[in-house]
Amino acid sequence: MTIPTFLVERWIGKYEWTIPYDLAETGVFPLKVEELYAMDPALPERIAACQLDYGVNPGRTELRAAIAEMYPGKSAADVLITHGAIEANWLLMHALVNPGDRVVCTWPVYQQLWQIAAYLGADIRKWDFRHDADFINIRKLLEKPTKLLIINSPNNPTGVAFTREQLQTLVELGEKSGAWIICDEVYRGIAYDDNTVPPPLTALQGTRTITSMSLSKVFGLPGLRTGWIVAPPEVREACLRFRDYVSISPPKISDLLAEVAIRNRNKVLERNRRLLLRNHRLLTEWAATHRAFIKLETPQAGTTAFPKYLATVDSETLGRRLVEEKGVLIVPGFCFETENNFRIGYGCATEFLQAGLERIAEFLQAVL
Ligand SMILES: Cc1ncc(COP(=O)(O)O)c(C=O)c1O
Repeated sequence: MTIPTFLVERWIGKYEWTIPYDLAETGVFPLKVEELYAMDPALPERIAACQLDYGVNPGRTELRAAIAEMYPGKSAADVLITHGAIEANWLLMHALVNPGDRVVCTWPVYQQLWQIAAYLGADIRKWDFRHDADFINIRKLLEKPTKLLIINSPNNPTGVAFTREQLQTLVELGEKSGAWIICDEVYRGIAYDDNTVPPPLTALQGTRTITSMSLSKVFGLPGLRTGWIVAPPEVREACLRFRDYVSISPPKISDLLAEVAIRNRNKVLERNRRLLLRNHRLLTEWAATHRAFIKLETPQAGTTAFPKYLATVDSETLGRRLVEEKGVLIVPGFCFETENNFRIGYGCATEFLQAGLERIAEFLQAVL
């Protein structure tokens, strides 16, 4: 049995280590270990003294307690540490999906979120939320008994974020159809306009709500590979059963660094918010300047945008030619099963974003 190619990962993997202007990356410009050391003077010594045996299976209690503080009404016991959100999602799908189950997923979206369920034999229904502002289609999709409703908010690639009220409606609709509701919240934590960040899914009214999250995106710490699941006990236990076959336990050094990042989350998020706000402004101004061939729905949160472009090249050719002729890496729409779009990650250093955006505009103007 094989699984279809993870298009975004393969596309980025082909170019990312050699490209001058990488606008495909979706995290915020990453922190260095020394920046975390500066937040906790005792940390270097703790790292030096860390004995490199296996970590605690569900993650150290201190780390889980620090994470639980971000989830109203939750405690360390409600949290399971994973290797990034990618493992969190992998475990959740394996724990919850059986062949023939109906699974509804927001779309367009990070391929992993529906592909694993499809691989496990689920009947996948993609919900194009961009054309369903009144939630008419999602109501129809959830009229039939459903095993899992998968939400990604803020969304990769569009940067659309559901409001608290929309999330609550989705939970109610999902629960009525018998579904577990997973919200992949890796882009949650920083929002534009008035910086209103909707609550995590598990803070809403509901009994079948699950969050997957990590330090990779708005925290700017993907190298730690620290993620987590907040879920009811039966789901966490089912995940741990699979985890015993996959990765055993979280890495001990990451566990220590992650705890410091989370305890200092206001500082970390403020650093990243400043960068993202600057870059978000740059991106929207660029789109407005080039509206003759770029149409951008302004991202509400997160680190990614999904502009439409007007040109006669297909998205794969656009992506390849931008690499070869302009030294810029974006993610072509085909990696999200769409055309005439591309994804930009704008969490990088501002000067790189600016240079990359200028090169994209030059290219599109020339091929128009
Ligand atoms: C929506 C979404 N979920 C999960 C992941 C995986 O993140 P992590 O680095 O935490 O494994 C990504 C990475 O791009 C993502 O976009």
